[in-house]
Amino acid sequence: MIRVGVIGVGRGRAFVGSAKTVGMELVALCDTWEEKLEAVGKQFNVSTYTDYDKFLEHDMDAVILANYFHQHAPFAIKALEAGKHVMSETTAVITMAEAAALVNKVEKTGKIYMLAENYPYFKYNQEMRRLYQAGEIGEMVYGEGEYLHPDAVETRNKRSAGFNHWRNNLPVTYYNTHALAPIMHITDTMPVMVNALSIPNSPKDEQTALLPNKADTSSVILTRMNNDSVVRTIGYNLRGHGNWYRVHGTRGLMENLRTLDTQMLRVKHEVFELREGEVEEKIYKPDFPFMANVANTTGHGGGDFFTDYYFAEAIRTGVQPYFDVYKAVAMSAVAIQGFKSAHENGAPFEIPDFKNSMS
Ligand SMILES: NC(=O)c1ccc[n+]([C@@H]2O[C@H](COP(=O)([O-])OP(=O)(O)OC[C@H]3O[C@@H](n4cnc5c(N)ncnc54)[C@H](O)[C@@H]3O)[C@@H](O)[C@H]2O)c1
Repeated sequence: MIRVGVIGVGRGRAFVGSAKTVGMELVALCDTWEEKLEAVGKQFNVSTYTDYDKFLEHDMDAVILANYFHQHAPFAIKALEAGKHVMSETTAVITMAEAAALVNKVEKTGKIYMLAENYPYFKYNQEMRRLYQAGEIGEMVYGEGEYLHPDAVETRNKRSAGFNHWRNNLPVTYYNTHALAPIMHITDTMPVMVNALSIPNSPKDEQTALLPNKADTSSVILTRMNNDSVVRTIGYNLRGHGNWYRVHGTRGLMENLRTLDTQMLRVKHEVFELREGEVEEKIYKPDFPFMANVANTTGHGGGDFFTDYYFAEAIRTGVQPYFDVYKAVAMSAVAIQGFKSAHENGAPFEIPDFKNSMS
């Protein structure tokens, strides 16, 4: 069993769902919210800490970061320094300086670092990766990722109590990984440049008027990928709750359905370039490639199982996972540079290659 400690007893509890199946065991929890910490500690019968430094002294192999969105990098760096492997919730870093420091720390310590990006592991996204890798639609020329999560004002104020909660202060491009990561995973491409525009709150939006949210409502980010394709991502308060991903290739299109059963996948070819055995249009409901029985019982469309699975696998093999530190900071860089771009009305900003620049 890999011994794991979790900081953040909100989202942090999701990890426990499939931990045992993948050979991980929760041994310690950390949170400054004492009442909740005590209750969750009792529920799982594990040690509890309100002080992160003391928590890091606990006998364990790995730390999962589910603390505040904007404070993952310093907590990741401390855990790596303490000799722990790290899986971090979104987002990895919030400044380019943090990105450089985190990459440096992972390279120096040699510990496993993984971004817990779960959306690429939806059934249809894993199937799109399988098809793409088999050449079904050729090479991506254009992609789209949409993560839309509007909620009633009561829900949002409960989830993000207080003017200073991070969800009420989030720069509008920053919650971008659920939209971008699946496209990167399907196509094995990396971002190299962004142009972004911010969408302000409308005074006609009666729900938003009741929020202490200081940020704009959404953003559109155009990202140039390293194969010259363009990916458009949007998120996250626009009406029309759901997740949609689409990849246009040099010889076909794949996307999950926009309406009715959005778990269905559509693969489309043009008649003029059909290959033997191919059909013009296929619509079907894919399943997980493996361990479907367990994945089906976990949150976020089974994605929560696969992040646990790949983190455990990386620790056991010593090989960094797919969503390693370089992909993690590249996605954060899209958010950070995208925000700068939005401030300059869509001016282009580069995404540095942290792999080459840091070594
Ligand atoms: N991948 C997903 O599908 C998904 C879903 C939900 C949340 N998340 C991510 O998980 C993270 C946490 O989300 P949340 O909704 O639980 O946030 P939250 O703000 O509700 O909870 C964060 C918790 O961390 C604790 N905390 C903060 N600073 C601390 C410190 N210094 N020491 C100890 N404890 C501390 C807080 O007391 C709180 O309980 C965020 O990064 C969020 O983006 C991801």
